[in-house]
Amino acid sequence: MRRRLEPNYLCMNDRCIVFIDSGIGGLPYYAYFVERNPHIRALYIADRAHFPYGGKSKEELVFLLSALVAQTIEKCNPAIIVLACNTASVSALPELRKRFEGILFVGTVPAVKPAILASKAGHIGVLGTARTIEDSYIGGLAASTGKDCKVTRIAAPELVEFVENSFLHASDEEKMHITKKYIDQFRAVGVDAVVLGCTHFLFLLPEFKQAATGDIAVYDSIEGVCGRVESLMKTKNENIALVTGNNQVEDKWREVAALYNLKAYKFEDFDG
Ligand code: DGL
Repeated sequence: MRRRLEPNYLCMNDRCIVFIDSGIGGLPYYAYFVERNPHIRALYIADRAHFPYGGKSKEELVFLLSALVAQTIEKCNPAIIVLACNTASVSALPELRKRFEGILFVGTVPAVKPAILASKAGHIGVLGTARTIEDSYIGGLAASTGKDCKVTRIAAPELVEFVENSFLHASDEEKMHITKKYIDQFRAVGVDAVVLGCTHFLFLLPEFKQAATGDIAVYDSIEGVCGRVESLMKTKNENIALVTGNNQVEDKWREVAALYNLKAYKFEDFDG
């Protein structure tokens, strides 16, 4: 008996998608996703009890996020958990994937790769929490581009605090002033691309863009993260044929699979 599938419609037995951050930082990611996928039940968790994440050690973050994820699974039974937080992702994501095998995780990492690939100056800046910018993950991302590029990293705990606690009632001047300070630091050392490596900074995206206008491009990961969630939802909702072999799945095979309402993927590339 063949099942008809509505494209882009998540069934996953009505399990929800949960977004997690230390505070309000993940909300722009959540909002972007919900606007594009209004039929999906998505929950947002602000781990205010442990805000800020950025000054904590990797071990501490693994410990507290493991506890939070365990409780989240019990309360909400999610199909996908989005760590809408760079600090949590670079620190704890591999360990969370090991500990909670039945859950699909999507992490948020600074958009270092596209920034490096587009940089003409061969020098980019990454703005994040202390924990994120000191993590070896950033160097690994930069190296994976195969391009020789200098990466200047600046920790901005003050900016995280500002967004979390003062953004709502801050004046336009205050927002611009605090944002420009960081762009000026990057400009002074000659970067031509700045990566917003903390989700809280998305609240100040217009100010970052305005301060950077002319010589610096600003990168964030919102589309990449939400696109990844959407592609996981799609594969969850497809009837799938996995084909082994070293080459790409041949067109001929795709066509036959389609007759049986199956989407064909290369076995080796498929990650669930
Ligand atoms: N929003 C978080 C991030 O993307 C962390 C902020 C914090 O709690 O320090 O890194």
